[in-house]
Amino acid sequence: MINFITLSIFPQIFESPLNYSIIKRAQDNNLVKFYHYDIRDFTTNKHNRVDDIIYGGGAGMLMTPQPIFDAIESIKDRFGEVEVIFFTPKGKKLNSEVVQEYAYDSNNKNYILLCGRYEGIDNRIREVLVDKEISIGDFILSGGEFAALIFIDSVVRYIDGALGNKDSLKEESFNENLLEYPQYTRPYDFRGFKVPDILLSGNHKKIADWRKNKQLEITKERRKDLLDKS
Ligand SMILES: C[S@@+](CC[C@H](N)C(=O)[O-])C[C@H]1O[C@@H](n2cnc3c(N)ncnc32)[C@H](O)[C@@H]1O
Repeated sequence: MINFITLSIFPQIFESPLNYSIIKRAQDNNLVKFYHYDIRDFTTNKHNRVDDIIYGGGAGMLMTPQPIFDAIESIKDRFGEVEVIFFTPKGKKLNSEVVQEYAYDSNNKNYILLCGRYEGIDNRIREVLVDKEISIGDFILSGGEFAALIFIDSVVRYIDGALGNKDSLKEESFNENLLEYPQYTRPYDFRGFKVPDILLSGNHKKIADWRKNKQLEITKERRKDLLDKS
């Protein structure tokens, strides 16, 4: 069981996206559980603020240390051992390997998913409390909640028992550093556009070879960097 504990100033963002499909089933089957904490509930500021100006100048505001320190301490009191993950463009880039590491190490884990807003968080939070920093790509989001949702969604589908058919994971893009081969469903002939005949041949060896060639072709064309990794 993984407990994902989100820490954000907009906990409502998490309400809807986690209640569908694979993630919903994973909750029903006790593979994952979600807890959403509002950073604002922990502020001691009399105006309920969680942000302040940036020392040294600069545009925008920064999340202050006090509410986040207090929130994380309170979560640790409740859950015991936790790993604090902060979503930031400065973090390690999320990829299939990172996702699988989290999914395969899913026994009794508690992850705090710390979501920044404004210009980010006071650096002392990173220095003292954060264990891992994860980026979902080289672009800037307005908040870490969307990065946390992408992290959750990608990790959950790799947890043992989360997918109806485990084989779905085997031939997906990024396995063996290849992109997925083209896939088709019924009808065979749609408006004159036909499915490649080899896929209806019933010859499993030939189909497997065709798929592997297509994987190499598309990976070479779009993501040569993946081929260089293998
Ligand atoms: C407007 S961004 C702040 C960006 C920050 N000033 C910087 O340049 O690195 C607000 C928050 O969104 C989240 N965020 C933005 N881009 C992200 C990314 N690529 N990956 C993960 N989280 C991101 C982080 O939690 C960040 O603290």
